[in-house]
Amino acid sequence: MPNAIITGWGKCVPPAVLTNSDLETLTDTSDEWITTRTGIKERRISHVENSDMSAVAAQHALAAAGLEPTDIDLIIMATCTPDRMLPSAGTMVQAKIGAAKAAAMDLNAACSGFLFALSTADQMIRAGSMRRVLVIGTEKLSYWLDFTNRATSVLFGDGAGAVVIEASDEAGGLLAFELGSDGTAGDLLCAPGTGTEGSPLDIQAPSILMEGPDVFRRAVVAMGDSSARVIEKAGLSLEDIDLLIPHQANVRIIDATARRLGLDPAQVYVNIASYGNTSSATIPIAITEALEEGRIRPGSTLVFAAFGGGFTWAAAVYRWGSRTAPLGISGAALPPTEATALELLQPNVAVHGKGV
Ligand code: ACO
Repeated sequence: MPNAIITGWGKCVPPAVLTNSDLETLTDTSDEWITTRTGIKERRISHVENSDMSAVAAQHALAAAGLEPTDIDLIIMATCTPDRMLPSAGTMVQAKIGAAKAAAMDLNAACSGFLFALSTADQMIRAGSMRRVLVIGTEKLSYWLDFTNRATSVLFGDGAGAVVIEASDEAGGLLAFELGSDGTAGDLLCAPGTGTEGSPLDIQAPSILMEGPDVFRRAVVAMGDSSARVIEKAGLSLEDIDLLIPHQANVRIIDATARRLGLDPAQVYVNIASYGNTSSATIPIAITEALEEGRIRPGSTLVFAAFGGGFTWAAAVYRWGSRTAPLGISGAALPPTEATALELLQPNVAVHGKGV
């Protein structure tokens, strides 16, 4: 049975930056509240579609793996904000990058989507049915922002991350993983107006609703406990873990999860200040930046953990392979824009109104 090793990685974050000070002009909030309650200083607002960001991240991941798009057997696109429900975002990305030999599909497990997709890819490779899989996590959550709801509008941002996973004889890969869901509490974090419920005559503007404190408590328990279980399942102990790369929803959730596990803050990767919560994109963006910063080394033992709408949660122990440098560099980039983040958000304000 082959191992499944990450051989390529990449990200795409759109250029328009929405700062906490910008948010003060849209809703009744403050830089001080957002910084102390969430750890977020700024986030990106996309001027392009989900599949455009995905295609750029994918091209960087392919170059890092030294592969052509036609080398890919399968694209798994983790997202809850696809351009359209039909065709899928995965097939749109396939067309945009020219991955003509790949099957493509979407997978929605909200903020846990990347880890659901990564473990699916791992199992298909280990079973021998696929050799090279492109796993992408991308969100354009800004589309749903409602600035009359300050409890959610300050949290989210846009972005994309991608990895290439290949069948390999090299040691490493996913040593253990756990996926979980609890649909009975789904209404505590949901996005009405984003699907087919109700009548087309009553179409409502999409927005995210969340019972923040309840979600917070559940996230800490689920991420902490599932991480502990996968470490045990892998036959490892805390001392073996080099770096925890958690879903970036709130720095207080990340700190509490690390404390619950007994990990030192130096063993935890955090970049939420720059991007906010980009849902399924947070972990692949964090993997890419951790590699760029030298925080992942050959043979590093990593723990990934996530919690999101559904509810869904996931944790995995991943042992990095021997290569931490990209084989190639892609020049892929988004088209430039002169628009500011506040200008890009004008349609949201027109639909929902301002919250101040
Ligand atoms: N600015 C200023 N004040 C605010 C804001 C804001 N943006 N938002 C809420 N407040 C106020 C509240 O109204 C409340 O005021 P009150 O005491 O006068 O009633 C006070 O701040 C405290 O509100 P809480 O909701 O209790 O604040 P909390 O510390 O819980 O932080 C937060 C809220 C950031 C949402 C937190 O609960 C959280 O991070 N929850 C989990 C998020 C998460 O993990 N989501 C999962 C993934 S998302 C996905 O799947 C797409």
